[in-house]
Amino acid sequence: MYLVTGATGKTGGQTVKHLLAKGAPVRAFVRNEEKAAPLKEQGVELAIGDIGDADAVAKAMDGVEGVLLTLPNGPNQLDWEMGVLKQAEAAGVKHMVYLSSTESNSDNPRRIPQVHVKVAEAVMASSMGWTIMRPNFFMQGIYPFAGQVKANDAFSFPAGDGTASMCDVRDVGEVAAIILTGGEAHYGKTYDLTGPDIVSMHDVASLLSKTLGREITYKPMPLQAFHDYLASVLKSDWHVEGVVELMQEMSEEGGLDYTTDTMGELLGRPPMNIAQFIEEHKGMFGG
Ligand SMILES: NC(=O)c1ccc[n+]([C@@H]2O[C@H](COP(=O)([O-])OP(=O)(O)OC[C@H]3O[C@@H](n4cnc5c(N)ncnc54)[C@H](OP(=O)(O)O)[C@@H]3O)[C@@H](O)[C@H]2O)c1
Repeated sequence: MYLVTGATGKTGGQTVKHLLAKGAPVRAFVRNEEKAAPLKEQGVELAIGDIGDADAVAKAMDGVEGVLLTLPNGPNQLDWEMGVLKQAEAAGVKHMVYLSSTESNSDNPRRIPQVHVKVAEAVMASSMGWTIMRPNFFMQGIYPFAGQVKANDAFSFPAGDGTASMCDVRDVGEVAAIILTGGEAHYGKTYDLTGPDIVSMHDVASLLSKTLGREITYKPMPLQAFHDYLASVLKSDWHVEGVVELMQEMSEEGGLDYTTDTMGELLGRPPMNIAQFIEEHKGMFGG
């Protein structure tokens, strides 16, 4: 049995999908039974509770061989992830697969990377077999500006002139399923997972223009304006500052602009590239 946290989210959801495709038994830890109903219909066992509830998490570990641990960024992420780790180890789980991120290096002082660094260190120090996945910025991160492109042939995003080797979260989920079901072959491995191309938002605008057959303009959003926007939609200051820090890193310092072949090697096929991704999603952008 494989346990997936964040199973109604992007990475967890894709991991569940690919585990099911492999015929693997899956339990999803979810907090919203109604939202998880489609998973249940597909044969996923549900463990329902809040991830901060140690008893619920301990119960969910019963008979579990491998765990994908992925949770959203926020002020509770460190405690929640450490809690899952503790319960998994206590239950005798063999394999812990942890979703970190490309920029989460010990010398990166930003708060979200530091959470990932601390949890990854604890995962590696545990008695379980472990694998760390470090994906780059998700291509799905361009969804939020699809409406702007459709309406105005322009989009604003706080990435300045920065570049990243964006990857498709569907590939990341497939890789997580490969790692979980591959077990021991992936113990002690840290995988940096990138897309094949290093692109800026100017490049994304050019690709959108080419694909849609009309001129699309990218207007970098000042970080202060992004901060003010986030403060109006997110509950926690920690989360607002954390996301602004990440965009500041991407826009001003690089750090996300290298590629590896690891994704393709694990998938056994080329990973999604940004041009394919845009072609596939052109309807969202008014194509
Ligand atoms: N976005 C990127 O470009 C990127 C790139 C690399 C790495 N990452 C890493 O990916 C992680 C986020 O993954 P994601 O984007 O797949 O997350 P996501 O789509 O935001 O999903 C978060 C999941 O966690 C669940 N959740 C939240 N609070 C919970 C609670 N209290 N109890 C139980 N479940 C709870 C959510 O449930 P509900 O559906 O009920 O809300 C949802 O299933 C982060 O650690 C981030 O650093 C992101």
